[in-house]
Amino acid sequence: MEEFLNKNIKYIIAQYPEVGKILERYNIGCTTCSVGSCLLKDIIEIHNLSPEVEAELLYEIERVVFPGKEVKKRPLRQRAVRPQGEIKYSPPIKKLVDEHVLIKRFIALIEPLCALVDSSKEPDFGLILDCVDFIRNYADKYHHLKEEDVLFKRIGEDLDIIKVMLEDHTTGRNHVKQIIEGARAKDKAWVIEHLKGYKELLTQHIKKEDEILYPWIDRGLSTSDVGKLYVEFSEKDASLPDDFQKRYQDFVKQVEDTLNKRR
Ligand SMILES: [Fe+2]
Ligand SMILES: [Fe+2]
Repeated sequence: MEEFLNKNIKYIIAQYPEVGKILERYNIGCTTCSVGSCLLKDIIEIHNLSPEVEAELLYEIERVVFPGKEVKKRPLRQRAVRPQGEIKYSPPIKKLVDEHVLIKRFIALIEPLCALVDSSKEPDFGLILDCVDFIRNYADKYHHLKEEDVLFKRIGEDLDIIKVMLEDHTTGRNHVKQIIEGARAKDKAWVIEHLKGYKELLTQHIKKEDEILYPWIDRGLSTSDVGKLYVEFSEKDASLPDDFQKRYQDFVKQVEDTLNKRR
């Protein structure tokens, strides 16, 4: 089994598709990940499974990869596990989680916005381009670049889980390019397809960060790391125009009000 713990998950699922189904039952979404280069042992570590759940999961996997062999449950591995329930983030990571809140409010508007575009004879493509401005300046330049320029560099851009996050950011940027092209061409279907693609992507991306990546990063940060990260994030924030936060908070509120009036 040790050799399987050191194999990448894409290889294991390709050989034993049943393993993908087992991981899904444990809310580990490796089957939908486009990278799939994480090692099985790292996946178990990152997902903060309790020793009991970890032993049960490995028992199920071992029975699939070694059919016919008598498999015994492994002894529980003693290691630090975050208590289940509400996640407590360090101050710099909490900053990123708080930024997700406004991005999630915006994402919640995409479905009604697409319905509005779809039902309008002459859709307001100016509003779509204003949404692109929010995505590019708040979600991407402000939030994603804080992750890319500071956090991910510190954690290690070569780590598989970070590569997955970087790939998501790139896919998001590609959706945005397509939304702009679609809006310029005044093509409703084009815009809707990529707005929805962006919504699906970011919904999963933020969930992965809030529930898996950030808590895992937090478990490995020393007090000095926490302090340095906080300073670097604060310096980035200080370089923004004074009205930056208010401008984008107001924008999301304004779109919420516009869409609510039409319901
Ligand atoms: Fe991210
Ligand atoms: Fe994020």
